[in-house]
Amino acid sequence: MNATIIDGKAHANRLGEKISASIPAFREQAGRIPGLAVVLVGTDPASEVYVRSKGRMARKLGMESFEYVLPESTSQADLLGLIATLNADDAVDGILVQLPLPHHLDSLAVINAIDPSKDVDGLHPISAGNLVSGLPGLTSCTPLGCLLLLKSELGDLSGLDAIVIGRSILVGKPMAQLLLAENCTVTMAHSRTRDLPSKVRQADIVVAAVGQAEMVKGDWIKPGATVIDVGTSRVVRDDRTRLVGDVDFSGASQVAGAITPVPGGVGPMTIMCLMHNTVIAAHRRGDLPLPSFL
Ligand code: GUN
Repeated sequence: MNATIIDGKAHANRLGEKISASIPAFREQAGRIPGLAVVLVGTDPASEVYVRSKGRMARKLGMESFEYVLPESTSQADLLGLIATLNADDAVDGILVQLPLPHHLDSLAVINAIDPSKDVDGLHPISAGNLVSGLPGLTSCTPLGCLLLLKSELGDLSGLDAIVIGRSILVGKPMAQLLLAENCTVTMAHSRTRDLPSKVRQADIVVAAVGQAEMVKGDWIKPGATVIDVGTSRVVRDDRTRLVGDVDFSGASQVAGAITPVPGGVGPMTIMCLMHNTVIAAHRRGDLPLPSFL
């Protein structure tokens, strides 16, 4: 193995310490602590784990956590009713509705109903528009976490060739915008892209966010490139269930300059960026000067 393994957990812990240290000053000025509301509809086991860990982290850092677990049969009207209640609740600075929602619910309508000032997931069209326009706003947690890891590894990203594989509103699209804002030359690849391996071979930065286990092979990677693996797929291997990314880690780590592992790479940064966004939203809502953690 030649690549540096990017330790997302260590980066997230350092960011968490700064976030936690900022809470007493916020409490002093605002007379309360920042609050994060996380909404889960249904009983998807992986989503339950994510939601629980988000709540636990908020409390660990000194914030308030409000967790709502609604039955699978929840109607669109009831979910929108809860969002309206959370929008109106002054103790709530951030609202995250865990995706995917059950099929009978309209995810985009639910996201659109969230007050953009509380959109800590960065998914509201106003948040997406702010990002494209270079205006202040809340940036989706996973892409923000990926960017922080890239900058800590590479410093200035200006002029680098980056490829983002996957075009979801959760990761691919905001990731491409963040890299563009850092003056990268960005290629967005997706399921219809022709000759993906040759396009990946051009890239100094590879962000893989497709949700297909080990799809990106080691011999696609340009020697020395930095590889950020957003994927988390469960596969059964040697009679054991393992979590793997979108990148064939054993092959890519022979070639890359640096690579994130799965687990322990992007995942911890996603949660910590959610905490970051909640504290930023709390300061903005209270008209308080923004702390700088990044
Ligand atoms: N499901 C998987 N990742 C995420 C995320 O970052 N935000 C939301 N809302 N749902 C998710």
